[in-house]
Amino acid sequence: MSLAAFPSTVHVRAPGKINVYLGVGARHDDGYHALATVFQAVSLYEDVFATASDSFSVSVSGSEDASDVPLDDRNLAMRAAKMLAAATGFTGGVHLDIRKSVPVAGGMGGGSADAAAALVACDALWGTALSIQELHELAARLGADVPFALHGGTAVGTGRGDQLNPALAHGRFDWVLVTSEQGLSTPAVYGRLDRHRAAGAALADDPPLSLEVPVPVLQALRAGDAHSLAASMFNDLEVAALLERPDLDETLGAGLASGALSGIVSGSGPTVAFLCETPESAQYLQREMQAAGRTALHVHGPVPGARIISV
Ligand code: C5P
Repeated sequence: MSLAAFPSTVHVRAPGKINVYLGVGARHDDGYHALATVFQAVSLYEDVFATASDSFSVSVSGSEDASDVPLDDRNLAMRAAKMLAAATGFTGGVHLDIRKSVPVAGGMGGGSADAAAALVACDALWGTALSIQELHELAARLGADVPFALHGGTAVGTGRGDQLNPALAHGRFDWVLVTSEQGLSTPAVYGRLDRHRAAGAALADDPPLSLEVPVPVLQALRAGDAHSLAASMFNDLEVAALLERPDLDETLGAGLASGALSGIVSGSGPTVAFLCETPESAQYLQREMQAAGRTALHVHGPVPGARIISV
């Protein structure tokens, strides 16, 4: 291979996600919960530029406040690059420049998108040429949501959320995301759910005995029917996110009052995702939420997973 075959910088883009359905089962000994979830990748992206280097380093910038994002081995993209190097025997390094658009600690898988993008970018930069299956295995070791950020589209996740099967989805769904300045810790929200259930606050919140995505959710996606999806979307973590952040209840009510078909806390929150009937009704809702002093973004899904933009 000639030297020219090795690029000096690779740009990869990976999407954030919404869980249109998130059923949480029992907590296993490893601390993870059994999940049955449906992910949808949406048009809010993380851009990662991987540049050849002798060592490993990360810089972070973008439309989101990146000051809380670690730049050391706690950074999931850094861990992804080092894991790929270890798995392939690559002895060099990389500089990862991450441009964030997905809310930090927002329940939309921004860190997982960074990790997925870093895997794809370093694989191309270093010429390690792993198969998609091998990348998926590394992704699953990095975090429960990382395989989906590689995969994109609409998919059912089981196990920890990392065992994926594509879901048929027709057309496009319009979402308005209301973001929060202050993020929520995912382990803290899962912990809240466990305590809430243990306290027996509501029998209906007991961990379900069998975890499956309800058929109406899959039918609504297959039909591209926003009204049916609005009627069937659900998140078991929402009760816990609302206990941590009671103000989100008001946000949910405000979105419904301004024409959303339905609203849901995204993943572990605090981002709230509103499903809208049309792009126009989403634009209207976005304007209404902004006028009320909230930060709102209009996105659509499904969109593809991590992909190379340029080399
Ligand atoms: O895998 P990831 O690092 O994204 O998960 C963050 C945290 O979320 C885990 O440490 C765990 O506390 C919680 N989690 C869980 N069950 C899952 C996925 C995540 O309890 N299936």
